[in-house]
Amino acid sequence: SGPATVSPTGQATGADQAAMAQGCPYLTTAHGVRLADSDHSLKAGRRGPTLLQDHHLREKISHFDHERIPERVVHARGAGAHGVFRGYGTAAKITQAGVFAKDKETPVFVRFSTVLGSRGSADLARDTRGFATKFYTDEGTWDLVGNNIPVFFIQDAIKFPDVVHAAKPHPDREIPQAQSAHDTFWDFVSLHTEAQHHTIWNMSDRGIPRSYRTMEGFGVHTFRFIAPDGTTSLVKFHWKPVLGVHSVTWEEALVTNGEDPDFHRRDLADAIEAGAFPEWELGVQVFEDNEEQMFQGIDLLDPTKLVPEELAPVQPLGRMTLNANPSNYFAETEQVAFNPANLVPGIDVTNDPLLQGRLFSYLDTQLSRLGGPNWTQLPINRPHAPVNDMLRDGMHQTAVHRGVAPYRPNSLDGGMPFETPADGRPFIDHPQPIEASAEKVRGHAASFDDHFSQARLFFLSLSEVEREHVAQAYTFELAKCYEETIRVRQLRALAAIDARLAKTVADGLGLEVPEPAEAPADVQPSPALSQIGKTWPV
Ligand code: HEM
Repeated sequence: SGPATVSPTGQATGADQAAMAQGCPYLTTAHGVRLADSDHSLKAGRRGPTLLQDHHLREKISHFDHERIPERVVHARGAGAHGVFRGYGTAAKITQAGVFAKDKETPVFVRFSTVLGSRGSADLARDTRGFATKFYTDEGTWDLVGNNIPVFFIQDAIKFPDVVHAAKPHPDREIPQAQSAHDTFWDFVSLHTEAQHHTIWNMSDRGIPRSYRTMEGFGVHTFRFIAPDGTTSLVKFHWKPVLGVHSVTWEEALVTNGEDPDFHRRDLADAIEAGAFPEWELGVQVFEDNEEQMFQGIDLLDPTKLVPEELAPVQPLGRMTLNANPSNYFAETEQVAFNPANLVPGIDVTNDPLLQGRLFSYLDTQLSRLGGPNWTQLPINRPHAPVNDMLRDGMHQTAVHRGVAPYRPNSLDGGMPFETPADGRPFIDHPQPIEASAEKVRGHAASFDDHFSQARLFFLSLSEVEREHVAQAYTFELAKCYEETIRVRQLRALAAIDARLAKTVADGLGLEVPEPAEAPADVQPSPALSQIGKTWPV
């Protein structure tokens, strides 16, 4: 094959990248020098010693020595797939984003993951699952970096290092690898009771999905849509699996983890290979973009709260079909880099303090995980829209940039001032008003103080057998705690969620039910929730 060609943006094309890796039938060094032998090192005589001058030996071993990159600090274990998203055209009045246009097809790459385990851990751990989607849209890349649980453990990103330190294995023994069954986890969630809602979802069957193909996905945070006429609305994203939501029982999970720790990634790859393409419908709950950012007493900026679908139905926007497996795990599933800050015109962020921190965290971690700032040039991360940034040089730069003046405007190589493009829309930063006379403060709104009402709502929404599973999961996991004070503190939180649940778990642990944890006096759960709680089928 010939030398790699360079596209007008200075980047080699995908096919050329492959040719650069394996372009001829014979073996060469990394510099293209043909080799006669790759099985014997160069020695002083047939019985050695080996010579330092053997460049091929050193190149081969040295490259191998550096084959691994750091695993993700969270969500290390994952499985990916390529697919397509097709818009229904139903969102035209509420967002400018072209990706939702009727019958518009956009290529996607999805990475499903567990959160806590290392790269080699087992798939059926009781854990949250990541559900991250990269939409390669005509208007730039949009990443919807969600989970299979609609709420999160914490309300402010500044606690993310803390919750992850608590949930990852103990620093002394490095156990457990990928479960909630340990002291630091229960210590954290019983002290930071905002985590109780997410935790009860983990203790339910949602924590052990049957398949990636049968999981819901959630954007968790509230995002903002910007309509063609500039009006805005607040939205929460939902992925609904066409196959329905299914889980396994804990006993099935235990056996499966032993028999086939790759169960979920095998299931996904096998289904795609067999042509049984997994599908999801993407929808949004839509809320008025009011000054309070509240809906029926639920704070839309609090990521530990959801809005029940009984109060705000999910409105379908399009369908995703996963139809191709990655051909190289490392190049695609491992090197893909998602970021909730990757947004397109018509979709913007809100002030959710968890989302705000995520906007910084992903790019920052990828600078070290992927070795410098140029990983957007990796094939899996490359936008499908044209790129003309002023970013230059840096580690692993593969583009050969043209021109002498990497700034705009310039008078040397035709760089004009920014203009509104005639054939496309620029990104819109919504001019969200800042709270009048707000002071700088470390704190949160009082509406964030209700930690238990939605956990209760979730528990009451379950069938009797599902509730039994929840009680069994708490009992199993808490029984693994060495510290009784932590078990008792978690029982106090359960007593604040549901007295029967607390009693069942306490009995299982051989403990008394303690007084319920108390919410601050001014906590006002949404009255709309209690309406739902009463009418929910039991
Ligand atoms: C990775 C979701 C909160 C930091 C991920 C991944 C997902 C995800 C799905 C895996 C991406 C992949 O497959 O490559 C979420 C959700 C959150 C949340 C839904 C809350 C609603 C946070 C917060 C932070 C954070 C608050 C930090 C302040 C990270 C980091 C990674 C990660 C550092 C690793 C990224 C990489 O190495 O490429 N998250 N996350 N996440 N998340 Fe989050």
